[in-house]
Amino acid sequence: MAQSTKQLPTSIDATLSLLAGADYLADRSLATVLFLALRMGRPLFLEGEAGVGKTEIAKVLATTLGRRLIRLQCYEGLDIAAAVYEWNYGAQMIAIRIAEAEGEGDRERLTHDVFSERFLIKRPLLQALEPDAAGAPVLLIDELDRSDEAFEAFLLEVLADFQVTVPELGTVKATQPPIVVITSNRTREIHDALKRRCLYHWVGYPSAERELQIVRAKVPGIGKTLSEQVVMFVQALRKEDLFKAPGVAETLDWAAALSELDVVALDPATVSDTLGVLLKYQDDIARLEGGKVKELLDEVRTELRAAE
Ligand SMILES: Nc1ncnc2c1ncn2[C@@H]1O[C@H](COP(=O)(O)OP(=O)(O)OP(=O)(O)O)[C@@H](O)[C@H]1O
Ligand SMILES: [Mg+2]
Repeated sequence: MAQSTKQLPTSIDATLSLLAGADYLADRSLATVLFLALRMGRPLFLEGEAGVGKTEIAKVLATTLGRRLIRLQCYEGLDIAAAVYEWNYGAQMIAIRIAEAEGEGDRERLTHDVFSERFLIKRPLLQALEPDAAGAPVLLIDELDRSDEAFEAFLLEVLADFQVTVPELGTVKATQPPIVVITSNRTREIHDALKRRCLYHWVGYPSAERELQIVRAKVPGIGKTLSEQVVMFVQALRKEDLFKAPGVAETLDWAAALSELDVVALDPATVSDTLGVLLKYQDDIARLEGGKVKELLDEVRTELRAAE
């Protein structure tokens, strides 16, 4: 599993092929900003629609560069105890009891002992600052928009110096800063101060051409006609007024599902029966009832015929 550490890419093209090596097919604009982030040692801040490959990019980076992936999943109420470190109170209590039973009377030494690294539980941000023989890890701070602003302010400090202070122990500073990828689904705006530290990229839906490449890479064995129709249908669907448009994740799920069902080409009945793989809101599914599926499908067929 653990690959040997690879050098960082030395050009935009090298970045594109690094990602392609793990079946991640990026636009040149994304590869450019990623290349620069790696080059300049700056965090990469990715915002975008759901299911367009934001999280995946950190995973792919870790795999292709042979680095450890450290993931911090953000949520409301995320605090330092869950993100940075926590003392193992249970183990400390036991150590104190044992020391008492053994008649250990030196309080100062005992305090020193129980606040040593042995009793420290390291959470993702602290882990990411520690040296790693394989090279600096990839730190994925996923869905930052879900955390509170207080946490964001704290994160700003960590990203400024790549160091964290544990009052009882001292300061931990990364000898080699981690490769940081931050993602957000933009349920709220992230502060400018944090964005300023990062390089920014908006990950939109891929073009039809790119999405077709992704489907063919990720759903091996899918037929030419089906893959084209799937992609064109999803692209057409994204133009409709939906509550939640399908992301690349849904395209891949749908392509895999249809493949599984041995579908060779789309027809209105098959599309209607499998819509639940693409759309996850009843209102959106209802919107496609009553001839809309057939209409879109006719559009797709005409477009594909024209492209031949
Ligand atoms: N450019 C791409 N190349 C290859 N696979 C992709 C690409 N974009 C998305 N995918 C695939 O789509 C799926 C969803 O990607 P991912 O989970 O990274 O999305 P996300 O943007 O983090 O979504 P969310 O906002 O819901 O967390 C993954 O299976 C990923 O492999
Ligand atoms: Mg994600």
